[in-house]
Amino acid sequence: MRRIAVIGSGYVGLVAGTCLADFGLNIIVVDNDEDKINKLKEGIIPIYEPGLDDLVHRNVYYKRLNFTTDIKYAVENCDVIFIAVGTPPKDDGRADLQYVLQVAEDIGKYMNGYKIVVDKSTVPIGTGQKVRKVLQEQLQNRGVEYIFDVVSNPEFLREGTAIHDFTHPDRVVIGSESDKARGIMRDVYRVLYINETPFVETNIETAEMIKYAANAFLATKITFINEVANLCEKVGANVQHVAKAMGKDGRISPKFLHAGPGYGGSCFPKDTKAIVNIGEEYGVRMSVVEQVIKANENQKLRMVEKIEGQFEDLKDKTICILGITFKPQTDDMREAPSLVICRELVKRGAKLKIFDPEGQKEGEWRFNDILDRITFCRDEYEAVVGADALVLLTEWHQFRNMDLEVIHNSMSGKLFFDFRNIYSREIVEEKGFKYFAVGR
Ligand code: UDX
Repeated sequence: MRRIAVIGSGYVGLVAGTCLADFGLNIIVVDNDEDKINKLKEGIIPIYEPGLDDLVHRNVYYKRLNFTTDIKYAVENCDVIFIAVGTPPKDDGRADLQYVLQVAEDIGKYMNGYKIVVDKSTVPIGTGQKVRKVLQEQLQNRGVEYIFDVVSNPEFLREGTAIHDFTHPDRVVIGSESDKARGIMRDVYRVLYINETPFVETNIETAEMIKYAANAFLATKITFINEVANLCEKVGANVQHVAKAMGKDGRISPKFLHAGPGYGGSCFPKDTKAIVNIGEEYGVRMSVVEQVIKANENQKLRMVEKIEGQFEDLKDKTICILGITFKPQTDDMREAPSLVICRELVKRGAKLKIFDPEGQKEGEWRFNDILDRITFCRDEYEAVVGADALVLLTEWHQFRNMDLEVIHNSMSGKLFFDFRNIYSREIVEEKGFKYFAVGR
């Protein structure tokens, strides 16, 4: 039976490892964070991802999913090794490859036969070749010769719907120069392959580029509709109707056309910056994406200005913030619009009452320098008490059907900023609020 190692137990590594185990494969997930691995062994999942708990428990029970800190053991005992460690942006926007290359070094150190080294982390174009070089150097240092193949297999899963996305992908991309490796990868993904998931088989550089191009395009799509929304507000148009009609054009598609406070998360901000940097490195200006990055920053500030515009002075005003994660169904606040919006409101003198169903633990450390201006609340109804304005930043389900009468009676002010466009203006205004959305 084929044994597979997944190195890195973050969002991508843990979900990929668990789902592959659920496909019936024998998986070892490796991480150098002992605490995390011990917790996983006890069945404690370090991230909030719907459905992941059950899937981990089930596959651990059937012994298809194992956890270890021992990378040597994993490399020696597995023939397919996924690298799924983080590639966070450095200060200059470039992806930090130190973790990927460190893992490659370790694999080279412990290799004991034919291995396929699969890069699942999002990495700059050319990283596959760098990984190959590191592996070769390690083998040379050891004075041994083993054959290995490097594969680029980018992951497109979204947080919050990670399991569904991994098990029902729109496509599987496999970049490799080796027929043997491609065959084994098809076998790893056999469950999807026989389900007629489209497979794109190409070279390593193309596979690496696909991921950046896809994410940069989606970020562009969101930013485009956000700018259209800003214009809609001025001309009296409704961006939701515009997006709906645009989306009916099969060439455009309705997805990722929801106007809002700007995109966030661990991928779009990082990958847009990275593709601009890669362009610079090769003397090709990615001018569209450059503007997307700028426009997205402006979008967050625009939300602050919208709120500020309703007050003579924000000093000591109480603003209720509903939702601080970058999107619902996650506890992740990386690059969330809330980070900029909350800070800017505090800078202008406001006090915040915050509620987020999953993000408060992260919020407490991310806002640790402004905690004296923030009260974290038990639920949305506590957060609105005494607030001069309500600002809805993340479209959690429980915010979609709030009791507006109770909220109206609890607030001091009547300003309702729905930055995810989830309420109908008529209904909110009927209850006596002054309603503000994005592009409507
Ligand atoms: C994204 C990609 O979708 C995924 O393919 C890739 O692997 C990782 O990056 P993720 O970051 O989990 O996934 O979230 P996603 O659902 O794509 O949303 C990203 C951001 O865009 C969120 O802040 C979301 O609120 C925002 N967004 C999304 C909009 O503002 N409008 C939209 O129409 C869609």
